[in-house]
Amino acid sequence: MSDHDHLIAAAKQARENAHAPYSNFRVGAALRATSGVVYTGCNVENATYGLTVCAERVAIFKAISEGERGFEAIAVVADTDALTPPCGACRQIIWEFCGDVEVILANLKGNVETHRTSALFPKPFDSSFL
Ligand code: THU
Repeated sequence: MSDHDHLIAAAKQARENAHAPYSNFRVGAALRATSGVVYTGCNVENATYGLTVCAERVAIFKAISEGERGFEAIAVVADTDALTPPCGACRQIIWEFCGDVEVILANLKGNVETHRTSALFPKPFDSSFL
């Protein structure tokens, strides 16, 4: 199995744990740190909808909280024909912690697309402006 396939499989598995009773839109993410460790996340919704956290941010915050710094790629999996890209908030967080990594989008049918953060999120605000 390639590194990409492994990350997609991990994201699919994490999607199974999605807490999405309000949208029924289940998402999984998997993030590979430069250490080689893979961190996963799923979307976690809340009855006060605005407190929902996306799968990507759950995976990234798990990794950061475990002391990881430096990432190679993140995979995002949903059950949609049009592959689900990260939302704007997640793009900002991916840029902050992962930089210009590969963002792998996949669905349950085996369709895959790879983009770089810089293509999904041109002209980001980051610490270089502070
Ligand atoms: N969602 C994610 O977890 N990641 C994405 O890339 C897109 C959207 C979640 C948030 C919410 O729980 C549901 O999908 C519908 O927006």
